[in-house]
Amino acid sequence: MAKTGDGDNLGTAEGAVLGRASHTLHAENPVLRDTWAIELLGEASRAVARDPESDAKVLAASGIDFRLILAVGIGSLRYAEDEVERAVERGVDQYVILGAGFDTFALRRNDLADRIRVFEVDFPDVQSLKRDRIDAAEATPAQRPTFVPVDFETMKISDALPAAGFDPTRPSIWSWMNTIPYVTVEATEATLSDVRTLMAPGSRLCLNYQGKVPLTEAQAEYLGKIGLTTSEGGEPWVSSWLPESFEEVVAERGFRLIEHATEDDLNARYYAGRSDGMHAGVPSRLVTIEASD
Ligand SMILES: C[S@@+](CC[C@H](N)C(=O)[O-])C[C@H]1O[C@@H](n2cnc3c(N)ncnc32)[C@H](O)[C@@H]1O
Repeated sequence: MAKTGDGDNLGTAEGAVLGRASHTLHAENPVLRDTWAIELLGEASRAVARDPESDAKVLAASGIDFRLILAVGIGSLRYAEDEVERAVERGVDQYVILGAGFDTFALRRNDLADRIRVFEVDFPDVQSLKRDRIDAAEATPAQRPTFVPVDFETMKISDALPAAGFDPTRPSIWSWMNTIPYVTVEATEATLSDVRTLMAPGSRLCLNYQGKVPLTEAQAEYLGKIGLTTSEGGEPWVSSWLPESFEEVVAERGFRLIEHATEDDLNARYYAGRSDGMHAGVPSRLVTIEASD
């Protein structure tokens, strides 16, 4: 199914980059300075991003404060990029972004372009739209990612990634952010097994997933509304795990748990002391795992 949106429905990949464009343009101290985000937007969403009142207008029109979940999305990408920077310092030179959507790491990181090659995995239609937007952009990309079209539900990354030039015998760094809720439990667990076969010892993967955790009434109501908007847009949330079950899932697949963090950790790390009140307002689980020997 197409995931690039249709009419008023942007699709989650473009919706996420619109949020980052707005955050970058208007926040006093962006958690992720996504200077390429604006370049990847269509004309209408570019106008929304440029409007300093757009968050307030969306809240007034829909009653949904998207910043509470946007902060999870942005903070999670920052979390992954911090890990990528540490990997580069260790000499890792391959970065695979699963469910990359309109991620802009490859496009904007001039400082790392000749030190790490970026592979992006997503649906073919999302990648095709992104390619067109890169071609039409005024800015010059730091590097063009290698696009690897894969549907996690039906395809194996281990077939596609080595064919695209990825070397599984050398260490790599991976992220899988803001995507797993859209992937079934079965496909997520199969993909984790498959990814593990491509990871030389010491390789790491950062991801986030939806935890089955107790919710306050306000959180349940909020997540109900957001879940409805993604379902209506054709991208329903379909997976979640008890945190202890998720730890078992990764251990069974040969991963060592480095960190299992929460939205509170994100807030402490990236959103403390902000004057704009932006913070991760919904439960989230962030994990860093390493391929054990
Ligand atoms: C909310 S967007 C997040 C994109 C990006 N990681 C970010 O944080 O901006 C979710 C992404 O997952 C991709 N996705 C969802 N299900 C997928 C599947 N079965 N196979 C490949 N990609 C998938 C979507 O196309 C979309 O780009």
